[in-house]
Formats: sequence, structure tokens, C-alpha cells
Amino acid sequence: MPVEISASHNPLRSPSDRRLNRIAGPSALIIFGVTGDLSRKKLMPAVYDLANRGLLPPGFGLVGFARRDWDHQDFEREVHDAIRKYARTPFDEAVWSQLKVGIRFVQGEFDDDAAFDQLKVTLEELDRDRGTNGNHAFYLSIPPKFFGDVVQQLQEHGLAESENDAWRRVVVEKPFGHDLTSAIKLNREVGKVFRESQVYRIDHYLGKETVRNLLVFRFGNGIFEPIWNRRHIDHIQITVAETIGVENRGAFYEETGASRDFLQNHLLQLMSLVAMEPPATFDADALRDEKVKVIRAIGEMTPDQMKSDVVRGQYGPGWVAAKPVQGYRSEPEVDPESETETYIAARFEVDDWRWSGVPFYLRTGKRLPKRATEIAIQFKEVPHRLFRESGSDPDPNLLAIRIQPDEGIMLRFGAKVPGLGIDVRSVTMDFTYGSAFTVDSPDAYETLILDALLGDASLFTRADEVEGAWARVTPIIDTWMDEGAPDFPNYEAGTWGPDTADELLAREGRKWRRI
Ligand code: BG6
Repeated sequence: MPVEISASHNPLRSPSDRRLNRIAGPSALIIFGVTGDLSRKKLMPAVYDLANRGLLPPGFGLVGFARRDWDHQDFEREVHDAIRKYARTPFDEAVWSQLKVGIRFVQGEFDDDAAFDQLKVTLEELDRDRGTNGNHAFYLSIPPKFFGDVVQQLQEHGLAESENDAWRRVVVEKPFGHDLTSAIKLNREVGKVFRESQVYRIDHYLGKETVRNLLVFRFGNGIFEPIWNRRHIDHIQITVAETIGVENRGAFYEETGASRDFLQNHLLQLMSLVAMEPPATFDADALRDEKVKVIRAIGEMTPDQMKSDVVRGQYGPGWVAAKPVQGYRSEPEVDPESETETYIAARFEVDDWRWSGVPFYLRTGKRLPKRATEIAIQFKEVPHRLFRESGSDPDPNLLAIRIQPDEGIMLRFGAKVPGLGIDVRSVTMDFTYGSAFTVDSPDAYETLILDALLGDASLFTRADEVEGAWARVTPIIDTWMDEGAPDFPNYEAGTWGPDTADELLAREGRKWRRI
């Protein structure tokens, strides 16, 4: 078995190389679940965008594996259509001609031995004809219940093992498991076949440009870190608001809900990046060691706290973007009496030296009035309110990190209104990506696919992180099961969620930020 060298451990690559675009070496990406939405809307376009930016090698292969009765040409047409429709960069015939030579399709079920034999033959051909050199990344864009079967098939058909210096990796889509027990089981199943260093668990929020910038903002600037703690910060709000409903994913969402779809992964990942200690290096494990410490330090909730500090909601009919929309229970493939939550808000604390006593309020929901992801750091009031008597105290300082859309960072502070008296108002300093930079940000999937091909796991979640996050979220879901049916629907589509979410902050004299 070859020694897995991750890019971040590669002695030939100094950390400053990260400024340059890194180009993947000869390799093949094999996508399981290639007929799904994610593959069409995100993965195939991302592969093309990488090729268009010159970041894929000439020796590159893209292999689709699915049940659909397609041949290579059918699949090639699908990839072409997906690229035309969803790629970020303009279509270039020359790039496409180069990419399509390496496209292959293998038809089969996950328990079909003949199909995996065929996959092996196809990959050997690609290695020989395209020079992909035995470097294979298997991307599982399939429901987690099939992960175990697929990795076992890969092992049984000799696809998980490689010779000489070639590498094998497995990229796994979220959700990673359904609860703590299933996540542990999955990790065990995947771990029987692949070493942890070969497993790339995706949380696409980590690939977002602004999320990556959070690390640069915190650890590349000297002025914020000394005040990034309980002495100066009153509380932190993390909001992921979506205007969309469940679209055509009703069946998936019924099993998932906002707690599994967002809280366990995207929200807790954002929270750990905000709260983590500075890692000693930018190395994947150094970074993930610090994130996992935060997740483990999130205080366990008592049964009472699970009731008082977590709010769930489900949207009823309403209006979004001036159009009437149906309630969740009327969406396709959704139970008309569904108890699945489409909104969740929670109050967590990180029990460590830096954060003790600082609440982290997290919220996410579908069919909210606005699409916006934001991290708001609310600083404490000044110790002595000098301007109180003039009747114009400014609001305490606030730092808002806008993840999407309208990416940027805003700092609010008090300023004197010009004039002979002392009138103080809140003003803002604003940095927006659009005006500061001329280049467009890559899509998260471009970043993550390239990193997986390069062997850089820093933006992927490790087994202990995923299990740690489930250990926090599973008891909440279990409590709901015991509590029985909530009074759903409890918020109108196009509003900011249930009233109880406002009460969660109001009882501590705080408010959600108006975004
Ligand atoms: C996915 C969720 O992980 O993220 C979806 O399963 C959600 O429910 C999506 O809509 C949001 O991603 P983004 O990048 O559009 O914020």
C-alpha cells in the first residue's frame, strides 16, 4: 500500500505555495450518483470550471457510475448539457474537447459485481490511454445508507488498493449519517477499507471563499485576535437564511429536517471556525484538531435546556419574493401531517477559557424572507457610557461577516455627527468583495474537488469532528421524539421564523440582527 502524502504534508510544497493556483496531477474522478441533482448542478460544472481555469491535468478522467441505461455518449451529452446550463465560466469548445476525451460511463447497481468489474476495466483503460496513472478519487454523491456497500465493493474489486505511488481517495457527501450511532457505524465501515487520510468528508460551506477568508481574517490580522474573547464579545449570532423551500427534495428532507441538514454540519462548522484557537500551522490536522476542540467544548444541554434553548419551526403557506408559496406540508413527497422542522434556532455555549458565558445563537430556515448567511460578532458595551447624558449613546460595536450573498465584512462603530453639539451615531466601515477584488470567487465545489485531487484535506471534516457534532445534535432530536408533535406549521413562509425564536434571545435582553 503506498504512503499517502497529503499536499499539506508534502515537504516539497512550502505553505507560501498556496498563493499560486495549484494544479491537480494526473487523476480520475469517479462519481457515484451521477444522475442526481448535485452532480448535474454542482459537480460536473465544477469539473469543467476547473478545466477551464487550467487546473486539471491533460491526463484527467471523469467517470460516471449510475443505474441509468446510458452509454459513454449519453453521459457525455449529460455532462455537456449540465456544463452549458450551470458552469460558472464561459463555455470554451477547446476545453470541452479536451475534457470529453476522458469521459466514461459505467452502468450498474451498487450490489452488481459485474458493474464494479467493468469499472475496474474502465479505470485501467483510462490509466493506460489518458495517463491517469492509477490515481482515483471516488466521489460518493449517494444516500449514506449505500456508503458502506460501495466502499466494500471498491475493496472487493481491488479498486481501493493501488500500486506504486498511485493514490486512492474517497470523497463522501453530507449528510454523514443520520445520528451519532449511524455516523460511528459509517466511519467504521469506511474505515475498514480506507485510512482516515484517504477519506474526504464534504461540508461544502468550508469550501466557500468567504468561509475560507474567515481564517485569514482571524489569523492573518493582528488587531482582532486580542479582543476575540469573552472579555470583549457579548454574543455571537450565526444565521443561514434561505428563501427556497424544499424544492424537489421532499422525500430527502422529510428524513433530514433543518437539524440534520444544517445544524449538525454547516452551522456547527461555522461556529467552530469562529471559536477555534489559532492552529499552529495551516496543516489539515492542525486545523481540524482546533475545530474538534470547540465542538467537544460545546456544553451538553440538560433536558430542560433542550426545551428552552432550542426552537424548531415549520413553514406554512405565505409569500416569498412577492409570490404566493405553499406550506411545507403541501410540498411534493411530504407527509400532510409532517413533523419535520424546516427551521431551527439554538443557543450554545463553548465551555472553555476563551468563551465561557458567551452565547452563540445559531439559526437556519427555509422560506425565510431573504437569502443570507452571516456571522455577527456583537461586542460588549463600553465600560463607561460617556455619551449617555447627551442622549446619543451609539450601539455597541458589531462585526458582521457576510458569507453570502453580497460577500464582505462590516464593522459598526460610533461617530460624532458634524456640528457644534455632541451627537453620536452608529456608522459602518464596509468591505465588499465586489469592489475590493476584480476576480470572481470560485464555487465551493471547485475548491473542494481540486483539494481532494491534490490531497489537501484541510477543508474536509474528520471522523472525530463529525461524530462530535452528532453527539451534540442527536440528543436534541431524541428529545423531540419524546416530546411528541409540535404545533406545526408555526411560521408563515416569507417571515423570519417562529416567535419562539425571538423569545430565545429576548429573555436575555437580546434580539436577532435584522439582516
Ligand atoms: C445543502 C442543503 O447542504 O446546502 C440544502 O442540503 C441547502 O438544503 C444547501 O439548500 C444550501 O447551500 P448554499 O451553498 O446554496 O448556501
